[in-house]
Amino acid sequence: MKGVILAGGSGTRLEPLTKVTNKQILPVYNKPLIYYPILTLRDAGINQILIISGPGHAGQLLDLLGSGKKLGVDLIYDIQEEPRGIAHGLAIAEDFADKGPVALILGDNIFEDNLKGAVMNFEKQERGAKIIIKKVSDPERFGVVKFNKKEDKIAKIIEKPKNPPTNWMVTGFYLYDNRVFDIIRSLNPSARGEYEITDLNNFYVQEGTMTFQKAKGRWIDAGTFDSLLEANVFIARKERAKNNVISNNE
Ligand code: G1P
Repeated sequence: MKGVILAGGSGTRLEPLTKVTNKQILPVYNKPLIYYPILTLRDAGINQILIISGPGHAGQLLDLLGSGKKLGVDLIYDIQEEPRGIAHGLAIAEDFADKGPVALILGDNIFEDNLKGAVMNFEKQERGAKIIIKKVSDPERFGVVKFNKKEDKIAKIIEKPKNPPTNWMVTGFYLYDNRVFDIIRSLNPSARGEYEITDLNNFYVQEGTMTFQKAKGRWIDAGTFDSLLEANVFIARKERAKNNVISNNE
């Protein structure tokens, strides 16, 4: 399966940090932010990756990552000319997908879990999509899952609801069969003029072909000052523990 990273967005919530820098290049402890979704895909067994960014600062990603060889992946690049939503960005990957399924990950999402099992389970699925969900205390910031009565299937995904039906949010890692590109073509733009990932996901939910896996480890969307700081602290602790460094500051 091939992987797509969406590294667009103007990063307005992180200004002035993002004024002259692509958000995905900002540091998260000892690596630029974009390393984390690349390594998540690689560790899930996905080595062929298309990075889609906006027209501003796109060259920085190429300067930083090049062919991807040093990270053990094969990278190619494309541009989303206008910020018209995540589903609109994914549409750019149609030729790259080459009639196969795709894994999509958002460029600011950090997963502690290894997602190889999710990818392998999805590959056994005849058709449809799969998402990774996570229990959080502030679900209203995200796409939120409403379950059926037995709580074994997703009944609906609601984007940034005022009154979230559960604490389970939809993370930025998605697996789709190749019909995804036709489905995106059938979507209408939302009130804010974007092709919403949640509308795309709800197509599969309604069809009954959307499966999910619950994230066990930490998940962080490093798109705000506080979550970027949280990501830095989390990775710093993990890296220090790995290197057996005992810090007096913690
Ligand atoms: C997007 C999606 C949302 C999802 C989130 C995960 O939100 O629209 O459904 O829960 O990514 O990071 P955004 O970060 O673009 O507001």
